[in-house]
Amino acid sequence: MKRIGILTSGGDCQGLNAAIRGVAKALYEHYGEEKLEIIGIQDGYKGLIHGQYKKLEKKDLSGILTMGGTILGTSRQPFKLMRVIDEADNVDKVAAMKENYKKMKLDCIAILGGNGTQKTANLLREEGLNVVSLPKTIDNDLWGTEMTFGFQSAVDIATNVIDCIHTTATSHGRVFIVELMGHKAGWLTLYAGIAGGADIILIPEIPYDLKSVIKTLKARTESGKNFSILAVAEGAISKEYASLPKKQRKQAMAQIPYPSISYKLAHEIEEATGQETRVTVPGHFQRGGSPCPYDRVLSSRLGTAAAQLIIEKKYGNMVAVKGNDIVAVPLEEVAGKIKTVPTDSPVIQSARELGICFGD
Ligand code: F6P
Repeated sequence: MKRIGILTSGGDCQGLNAAIRGVAKALYEHYGEEKLEIIGIQDGYKGLIHGQYKKLEKKDLSGILTMGGTILGTSRQPFKLMRVIDEADNVDKVAAMKENYKKMKLDCIAILGGNGTQKTANLLREEGLNVVSLPKTIDNDLWGTEMTFGFQSAVDIATNVIDCIHTTATSHGRVFIVELMGHKAGWLTLYAGIAGGADIILIPEIPYDLKSVIKTLKARTESGKNFSILAVAEGAISKEYASLPKKQRKQAMAQIPYPSISYKLAHEIEEATGQETRVTVPGHFQRGGSPCPYDRVLSSRLGTAAAQLIIEKKYGNMVAVKGNDIVAVPLEEVAGKIKTVPTDSPVIQSARELGICFGD
């Protein structure tokens, strides 16, 4: 009897259920229901630490391809705290995970997650557990894969937000800032910004100069355009802040008297241009709802590829996108790195050729 665990960890995103289904269905196809038990570990690493799980039967996979969120639940368990023993419950998390892996009699765990999740997956590998991981995040910032599942669905939603803002911005002749997620990477803002026809795109990888933003806005007004749209990443940073040493930068940014950088920017734009400026923050909307068809296919492909690695006992790898192929990348190479937007990316180059300003 084979016993394979599956867990989803970190922020949720579209395509998680499709990926769970991909892994589990392919394993059931290969081993048959009599020779396989799939164990759905609850709420990410939390469930592995506390031994919370339930059997995932074939019937549980029906109807989940199109479903957002994760049927297994998820939680954030910061990597940096994995080896820290909580005073409250006095649990050695790593020891508990190893113990429960043994108790559950697992042959391997398929782990679906983003950067922090991959680091813990690698830690479990180092501790001798068999793991295979899948790249999940709307941020698309996972090193080792050209694409993560969840990203394209989030781009769809963020683009739709910009499209809707366009009509109201035009009617009122306002400047609108649409603040998008992405953590420290600008992928989501870059793609949605281009797809939504934003006039200015600000991403963490290219620190912006307020003067350049104002110049672009004024030039638009002078050319007869009564509105402007800015797609701003939640991690966007001004040149002024970016030039500070890390510690000072953190302190300075913590003192910004606005909920986020977009509100500060809106205030500065209103002051400099006199134009009414509004901020829209779609927030967790970007992670919600049904996966787009691209993500359904990608999650299914990554899921079946992960199952194949498990069947072939090629543990310790993350399945990844390379061109049109799905490949295996060693977890030790993935863990601890992030994939940001290269500033010489042809996508940025193309956006610049369209006249989009990046604030530099
Ligand atoms: O990593 C996905 C993400 O949505 C980021 O884009 C964002 O910075 C973060 O998670 C938000 O985290 P939480 O859901 O914990 O607020």
